[in-house]
Amino acid sequence: MRIDVPLRHAHRLLNHGPTTLVTTRHGPRRNVMAAAWVMPLDFEPPRFAAVVAAGTFTRELLEAAGECALQAPTTAQVGLTYAVGSNSGRDGDKFERFGIATEAGAKVAAPLVTGCACWLECRVLPEPALQSAHDLFVLECVAAWADDELWAAGEWRFPAAGRRTIHHSKGGVFFATGERIAAR
Ligand SMILES: Cc1cc2nc3c(=O)[nH]c(=O)nc-3n(C[C@H](O)[C@H](O)[C@H](O)COP(=O)(O)O)c2cc1C
Repeated sequence: MRIDVPLRHAHRLLNHGPTTLVTTRHGPRRNVMAAAWVMPLDFEPPRFAAVVAAGTFTRELLEAAGECALQAPTTAQVGLTYAVGSNSGRDGDKFERFGIATEAGAKVAAPLVTGCACWLECRVLPEPALQSAHDLFVLECVAAWADDELWAAGEWRFPAAGRRTIHHSKGGVFFATGERIAAR
């Protein structure tokens, strides 16, 4: 079940560096792509940095709409993640093509991909110089959610066996998030 994550904890959703999916919508056009280069930038309000390459359909919709959703797919979604990261929405709707179910968010129009571990609804804080020189977008999170099977008491609690978030290594190869280790 999707549960609300307080915005003061939103940075923890991506602190461990999982690969994300970026969803966008502008009018009738919607899209989803994989993005591994996404990281927390500030605590409260929670902000994130995301590299969205020039020329992608995501970039076009992100700049047009000024908002998006980030979400962390799981080990059950490796194939989906690689598919949406290897094909462009310019060639047709990837949600239909790859059978990706979605649900509505609360604050942005971008669809949320069903089955992910967490979702962050974000608005673009315009930084034209960074966007143009480095394809770097500053995103402010305005709503955050997590799957209650994987998130409890303000942190990830991945079961010993089962769904975990994923980390991209190279074309189509990922690592699953590993063991929880707490410093003394
Ligand atoms: C695992 C993975 C991670 C990726 N990470 C990024 C990223 O951080 N930034 C980026 O611009 N593209 C990244 N890509 C490439 C885009 O997902 C890819 O160019 C995609 O086809 C763009 O789709 P679109 O044209 O529908 O927006 C990644 C691809 C994969 C498979």
